[in-house]
Amino acid sequence: MKKTLLLFSCILLTLTACNKNKAKLNNKNTVKEPEWIKDPHTYAKPEEAVVTSLDLKMDVSFESKKINGTARWSYKASDSAKFIYFDVKNVQIISVTNGDSLKLPFELGTYDAILGQPLKIDISKKPAFVEIRYLTTDSSEALQWLTPDQTAGKKYPFLYTQSEAVFARTWLPCQDSPGIRYTYTASVSTPPGFMAVMSAENPTEKTESGLYNQFKQSNPIPAYLMALAVGDLEFKSTGPRTGVYAEPVTVDTAAWEFAETEKMVAAAEKLFGPYVWGRYDVLVLPPSFPYGGMENPMLTFATPTVLAGDRSLTALIAHELAHSWSGNLVTNATWNDFWLNEGFTVYCERRIMESLYGTSYTDMLSCLGYGDLQLTMGDFLGAGDSASTHLKLSLEGSNPEDGMSDVAYEKGYMLLAKMEKTVGREKWDTFLRKYFAEFKFKSMTSEKIEDYVYANLFTKDSEEDKRINMNGWIFGAGLPVGFSEPSSDRLKAAKKIGEDYLLGKIKVDQIDASKWTSHEYQQFLRTIKEKVTIVQMTELDARFHFTESGNSEILALWLEATGIHEYKPGYKALKNFLNTVGRRKFLVPVYVAMLENPNMAMMARQIYTGARKNYHAISQHTLDEKMKIEAVQPTE
Ligand code: BES
Ligand code: ZN
Repeated sequence: MKKTLLLFSCILLTLTACNKNKAKLNNKNTVKEPEWIKDPHTYAKPEEAVVTSLDLKMDVSFESKKINGTARWSYKASDSAKFIYFDVKNVQIISVTNGDSLKLPFELGTYDAILGQPLKIDISKKPAFVEIRYLTTDSSEALQWLTPDQTAGKKYPFLYTQSEAVFARTWLPCQDSPGIRYTYTASVSTPPGFMAVMSAENPTEKTESGLYNQFKQSNPIPAYLMALAVGDLEFKSTGPRTGVYAEPVTVDTAAWEFAETEKMVAAAEKLFGPYVWGRYDVLVLPPSFPYGGMENPMLTFATPTVLAGDRSLTALIAHELAHSWSGNLVTNATWNDFWLNEGFTVYCERRIMESLYGTSYTDMLSCLGYGDLQLTMGDFLGAGDSASTHLKLSLEGSNPEDGMSDVAYEKGYMLLAKMEKTVGREKWDTFLRKYFAEFKFKSMTSEKIEDYVYANLFTKDSEEDKRINMNGWIFGAGLPVGFSEPSSDRLKAAKKIGEDYLLGKIKVDQIDASKWTSHEYQQFLRTIKEKVTIVQMTELDARFHFTESGNSEILALWLEATGIHEYKPGYKALKNFLNTVGRRKFLVPVYVAMLENPNMAMMARQIYTGARKNYHAISQHTLDEKMKIEAVQPTE
């Protein structure tokens, strides 16, 4: 996620204020009213009227590249509420009714480039439902429509959505705030020969008609977890409650790579409490998917770049699975508290991986993560943007994406690791389970978790509090004094080898990589990539075949070096990678390495011009910004 982001300039930290006007809801049995936290990224006014469930019907047309949808919302409203507000962006509204023949007057407000428009619907007649008929447009950013050529099988087109953070509103009129949850059912009609899957109970076989009408998500979820994919998909089971969906040519590879998923679920349940979502399946997408993974409930969406052939990148599955507790169960109330989703999840991911593979493995993960964090923090602080190094963010007026950096992930992880270490694992684990149980299907803020920790783990100003300095971690810049650096003996050794090799202290055939996992290779490449010479790249390639690596993490680092040092034998692989892979985490450093080298910048722009169409709007947006960097003159 690092460095893919625009720096945002706001230095002052504004704390999210609780809305004091708690609404009286017209529910007969007075339910406990949630305290709505003000979310700057939604037009919804949940204290007046808030959705509770959705019945969604969608017709997916690959010909027009549009979804024709009908969203029937149930809601609850205060006695005095006259309107319900939805978020929409680049969606055409066809009609709004009560779910029957009564038309409900509606109004679309001013368009904002980040938030889209408020859809204000008159509910003064207290309609039973609010039913919105709509059509997506070519600018619906969540959607990527792939041509057959952009898929693995090359025969069928493919559609997938990416809703986090604020894109659900581009394919479905909704109250698009992480603090607003609802259950849903859905039916999807596709052309014959396709399978549709969602973040819900899914089919395992194609239907002849192309109609899938059994989607059901019976746990309340926020809109950013809405997901749909349609393509030539096949299902393969990997355990009693786990399996994979992928294109037929990929499904066996995926099932092998993710064969340990069931063990991960079992380990996670032992650590964090019951898995409440029923099934846990993974959908392997075509390579343009802009992220590594997305924790859509019951069905993680994953990039095919984790299919390394040796199960070495499955921490990503542990990560998305861990979101079933941190994020999907207990959810950040607004994107200002993104670290509560991601920092907790990185912590939980590493605990799952530790149960399966031991501490020397997870030490490597933490160490690589810490390396990313140092670079990201250095960039932020170097640009005078210390606010971006806080865990608690202040994103009002900016795109939530702008705050989503390694800070939330790795600084968040380090705080939780520090808490665990200070209070002891047993006490901490009991606390964590209680936290998930107590706040399940609820929203969390930094302020609320601080109070909860003080009430349940250690008291304010206690010895432990002083040792940890939780407040400093959450609301302060950088890393607090006395933080402990993650360290890994295995990575230290790989780094030393890299350094010695650069200095000529050891020759290429003296590099002892006999016990290296892909993480040690990553550390080695990180160590050498800036200073390695062409002669060294040539001999390294002859020995380790990095240019042909099937491990995307290793290949991306090698291609960065290829761009930095103009390593010509790597150009073909470089072009191929940039033309097929859409994962932003890889694209950004590789393109930036090229753009920063005056002799490579032109090639970067040329490749981008051709490859851009293969990327999801999310990656396009970030890379368009990078390409704006002034054209630099070649030196020869
Ligand atoms: N929820 C995130 C992906 C995301 C974050 C989407 C912010 C949109 C906005 C997901 O769980 C994630 O963190 N994915 C990581 C992989 C993970 C192993 C760190 C990614 O895609 O790089
Ligand atoms: Zn995550």
